[in-house]
Order: sequence, then structure tokens, then C-alpha cells
Amino acid sequence: MKKVLAGLVAAAAIVAPQMARAETITISCGSVGMEQTLCKQGTEAWSKKTGHTVQIMAAPTDATQELTQLQQLLASGSSDLDVARIDIVWPGLVANHFLDLKPYIPEDVLKQHFQPIVQNNTVNGKLVAMPWFTDAGLLFYRKDLLEKYGQKPPATWQELVQSAKAVLEGEKKAGNDKLVGFVFQGKSYEGLTCNALEWVDSFGGGTIVDSKGQVTLNNPKAVEAVQFFASLVGNVVPKGVLSYEEEGARGSFQAGNAVFMRNWPYAWALANSKDSPINGKVGVMALPKGGASGKSTGTLGGWQLGVPKYSKHPEIAVDLVKFLTSFEEQKRRALVGSFNPTIASLYKDEELLKANPFFGSLFDTFTNAVPRPTITGSKYNQVSTEFRNAVYSTLTGKGTAADNLTKADTKLKGIGKNGKW
Ligand code: GLC
Repeated sequence: MKKVLAGLVAAAAIVAPQMARAETITISCGSVGMEQTLCKQGTEAWSKKTGHTVQIMAAPTDATQELTQLQQLLASGSSDLDVARIDIVWPGLVANHFLDLKPYIPEDVLKQHFQPIVQNNTVNGKLVAMPWFTDAGLLFYRKDLLEKYGQKPPATWQELVQSAKAVLEGEKKAGNDKLVGFVFQGKSYEGLTCNALEWVDSFGGGTIVDSKGQVTLNNPKAVEAVQFFASLVGNVVPKGVLSYEEEGARGSFQAGNAVFMRNWPYAWALANSKDSPINGKVGVMALPKGGASGKSTGTLGGWQLGVPKYSKHPEIAVDLVKFLTSFEEQKRRALVGSFNPTIASLYKDEELLKANPFFGSLFDTFTNAVPRPTITGSKYNQVSTEFRNAVYSTLTGKGTAADNLTKADTKLKGIGKNGKW
């Protein structure tokens, strides 16, 4: 007995110095929809397990502003942030400021995640961040209203406009003058880049910059696409859309005031929540094609978690990243908030498929989502800004799509000389 006790005391002595002191670390959490709540619940569960405390820094709802804020913080070498959210288009912009997570993540864990995302997050051999959730642009529609007016879910954008008009006309006669046809993210920020890329690519106009790094923006299909959407503003699309981020669009749709909405998967859980006026009346599908010869394009989105190299508690921060990106936590976020997992096997999980049937029916939409031109590396944000400025000008009636895209194309060719970004 004495021997056993002595052994235990010795073992404790060995273990004790290795046990980390309880520390406080800081994470940035998104602020769109349920993100703050879900992030807080996740970090609290980890705190309970580890004894460490987590402080939450609320990120702006606008992804472009969030990037500016993060870049400022990183440029100052501040240790104020231990775990950062990283948008799918940022690894090439911020890689230098982050730890390589490869040594910390077992190979078999990394293998569970969608490999294109892992590759996206790997810059010069360094794993900048762990995949947290993925996104693709989707079309949400009012099943009840389409049925009422004998409309089918639209296969093309042109059909969407026709259906919206039919519903609006009928509802107006019935005295509903609040209803609008289609809402999306039309404010001039990264969200508009995502929407407009969908329009252009769905019309067969390419993805701004092609896979070889050549600028392809100025082409007749791209011009047609942007002009088409500009012609809807003030008509089927309310002018207010020009200041909408994700939540502006969702607010309108969820209040019952829009027939169609372009948004990310997170909108599903909220639109069908208990207190939602449109609970049970919502359909979700891949985005329409740009005409019969066009294709359905959903922009690839999604967020990762990484550890800035200035963190004073890198190992603890990595542990939180591992916890939040784990199978269990991704499942919880998907069940409660319809955030798409990056772990492939979760798309076969019965419980998840029941809560989010579109995880199954739109699986191809998620895995074939079209990436933004991150081949432009550290210039991506400039490319995105030039593109969406040209689109925004056209939407607000400042110049034609042809003129605005020609100018943006020339500028982009100047930034990415001969495809050498
Ligand atoms: C979503 C996407 C992200 C995108 C952003 C634009 O958060 O996941 O990739 O950049 O929307 O608003």
C-alpha cells in the first residue's frame, strides 16, 4: 500500500509541473445570425473541460471590415488575439502572421475534412488555419407563395424574375404591398463580390480571373449578367438591397416580405426557427442558371480558425481551435445553426440530414461551389474591391456594365501583370 501511494505521489509530481496554469485567451467570433451564441457555447464547453477562460471579441458583420480590422491588429504584432476567424479567401492575405498548425493536427484528423479546403488553407506548405464551416450561395424561396400562384422553383434567373412578378402581382391585388421579389447582399462589400461572381459565372462569363491568372472580367456574358441584375433594381429587387448585408436580406425574407432570397446556409435554421413567421414555408435550392445555356453557380464561402504567431499562449489557443473544429462541435453547430460542416462524414449523419435535408440534396452544390479568384494571392482584396465597385456602380445607375467592367478589367490587368500576381 505504502509503495502504491509513494508511486502515486511521484507520478503526481511528474504530471503537476506540466499542467498548464489556467489562462485567459481571446477569440474573434462572427456576428451574423446565431454566430455569437454558438461560438460562446462552444468556448464555454471547452473552458469547462480545460479550466481556461475565453474572452470573445465580436467581429463586425461585414467581412470586408473584419479583414481590415484583423490586418491592422496583425500588422501591429498585437498579442490581443489568440484565435482568429479566417475567411476562405484570406489565407493568401494573412498567412505570414499565423502559426503553422500542421505539427499539432494529426494526419487522420486533417483527412476527415474536405481536402480542397485544407489545400486552400495551406500556403507554401504551412497550414494557416483549420476548416471550421463551409458555405455556398443558395436560393431560398417561399414555397407557399410559389404554390399559390402555380409557379415552379426557377431553373433560370429569368424564370425567377417571371415568378416573382406573378406572385407580386397577385399579392398586391390581395392588398400586400410590402412584398418584394428578390433580396440579396447588394452593399458594396465582400458579400456583393460573392453575389456578383454567381451572376457572372452563371451566365458563362467566367470568374473574374481564370485558373491561369489571366483577367477575364471584360466579356459579353459578364456584361450581360451585370446589366441584367442592374435592370432589376427598383423593380423586382427593392433599392434597399443596395445596403443589405446577409442579415438585411434575411430580415426582409424572414419577416415574410420577400419571395426569393440569395443567402448562405445559416439562414435555413433561422427561417425555420419556432418564432419565425415563415417557419415551414421555405424552400431552398441551388441558385438559378443564367439562361438556358448558363449554369448554376454558388460561390464558395466559409470560415477557418487560426492562431496568430503573436499569441502568448499558442498551445492553449491551438487546443481551442482543435476543439471548435472537431466532429462533435461541427455537428452541434450544424444541428442548431445549419452551419455546413467541413468534415465529409457528417453529411451522412441521419440526425443532421433530418434537421437540414438540403445538406444531402444539395451536397454537389457545396462540393462544386465556385471559389473566388484567390490565385491572386496577396492581391485578392484589391481584385475583389475593383470587381464589386464596378458592379455596385452599375447597380446604382452610375455607368453601364460594359463601361464599368471594361475599366475594372484594365485596372486588374495592371495589378496582375501578365497573370503574375
Ligand atoms: C460568408 C462567407 C464568406 C464570405 C462572406 C461575405 O460569411 O462564408 O466566405 O466572404 O459571407 O459576406
